[in-house]
Amino acid sequence: MPSDTVATPTRRVPPPKQLSANPVVRVLDDARAEFRVRRRGAYPPGPKDFSMSRTLQAARDPLPLLLSLYEEHGPIFCARLLHSQVVFMLGPEANHFITVSNPENFHWREGSFGDLIPLLGDGLLTIDDAYHDRAREIMMPAFHREQVAAAVEAMRVETEAAIATLSPSEVVDIYEWMRGLAMRIAMRALLGLDPDDAGKGAAAAEHFERALGFYGIDFHLRLLRGPGSPWSKMVASRAVLDEIVYGEISRRRRDPDEGRHDILSLLIGVEDDAGEGFSDKEVRDQVMTLMFAGHDTSTSTLTFMMHELARHPDVLVRLQAEQDEVLGGEAPDIDRLEREMPYLDMVLDEVLRLYPPAWIGPRRAVRDFEFGGHAVKRGTYVNYCSWASHRIPEVFPDPEAFIPERFTRERKAALPRGAYVPFGGGRRICIGKRFGQTEVKLVATMLLQQLRLDAMPGRTMAIRQMPTLSPKGGLKMRVLPRSSES
Ligand code: HEM
Repeated sequence: MPSDTVATPTRRVPPPKQLSANPVVRVLDDARAEFRVRRRGAYPPGPKDFSMSRTLQAARDPLPLLLSLYEEHGPIFCARLLHSQVVFMLGPEANHFITVSNPENFHWREGSFGDLIPLLGDGLLTIDDAYHDRAREIMMPAFHREQVAAAVEAMRVETEAAIATLSPSEVVDIYEWMRGLAMRIAMRALLGLDPDDAGKGAAAAEHFERALGFYGIDFHLRLLRGPGSPWSKMVASRAVLDEIVYGEISRRRRDPDEGRHDILSLLIGVEDDAGEGFSDKEVRDQVMTLMFAGHDTSTSTLTFMMHELARHPDVLVRLQAEQDEVLGGEAPDIDRLEREMPYLDMVLDEVLRLYPPAWIGPRRAVRDFEFGGHAVKRGTYVNYCSWASHRIPEVFPDPEAFIPERFTRERKAALPRGAYVPFGGGRRICIGKRFGQTEVKLVATMLLQQLRLDAMPGRTMAIRQMPTLSPKGGLKMRVLPRSSES
């Protein structure tokens, strides 16, 4: 069975139970769950004492911590982070076990990213089991190739306009630049809104960014409640977004337009095999989830790509030679991006190996299971982690080095299953994979057809990982004409 299809068609099932957004309730629930797990057995090996320094390291720079625990304990281990015992499962077999062979053992919703639910609602990311599978099945057509191809024109127009704002020899924060561009593309392709319409598109973009900002701040600040708190600002922005999105849903239900190809319009029209579609709330939650899942990920991927290309001029030269040969200066289209630019694919694959933006797969075990000789009890937090898995030297020799040749077609096919999971796998594999890949490849191609981006001397890049990997504080680069010497 192809990995991006779901097992069986499913009919409407009730939505999942709502979880409390109150942090105190959540901490108490976690303590109760740990008590129940402990009564029924032990956790896998690893440091289980409370340690503030471990907790802070996990929050600020988790990669070295995870890799050293992997070295010490192997592919499954447990670490207490703040108040919770968290099991991590790393490496090809672990990734395959969680995403492909035993996904029914896990829920996303009760995992450690559950605090996204107040903004996203019950979209694909935060739902599980039959309710997830039904939603996914009826959404799949909106992500087929022809739908992505229909979004390419908006991507091209927006990218051209964004490139026109860059002048040679200026210094630009490429992360911010791409963030603005990705948001405009999302407004058009996902919501079907004009990003220049101050009443809707621009307001939605602004409030979406504001609401997302909540998830990038330190954990303790996210616990605050009351007027003026980050939480109340997030809730206020959510209210503006809801008004815009619900307004659009009812307007388009009243006045359908078959000529619209944006995802919001498609989701209003989709149906399951019993002829039932999504309710207004389901449509709202799904588009909010798509906006969330697609925005930071594409932005960071393009930024990390530019960072690595600036450090590897030989790779850049080869990439531009491929562009010239295939496109001869013309704008890229989906056919040529997908079929005729294998080196661009290799570069993108290697960028996503080193910096998979959705770096962690947060889950909660809903059944007891065994992996690697260790028992894990239901109720335990369990995470897979592509970021750490992609840096295991036995799987990817010289893991810190940027080597696109790791991903020639033959070498990629020879990787153990589960080794490379930047888009997850199995029934929850990224539904926007093709959309995201096309967007990043198109923007990178159009940018590099005209310009070169150089690293700022003496600047190093630190990484922030909440909620997705991104360069900490952005990434300033110098814009140069494509042909100029360093
Ligand atoms: C380079 C870009 C992207 C990367 C690296 C990426 C990565 C991922 C990963 C790793 C997952 C699985 C998470 C897990 O197992 O817990 C995922 C799921 C998802 N992604 Fe993406 N993503 C990207 C772009 C997009 C875009 C553009 C969209 C939407 C337009 C999108 C929508 C989603 C959704 C809705 C899910 C949940 C799928 C499900 O649970 O059924 N992603 N993505």
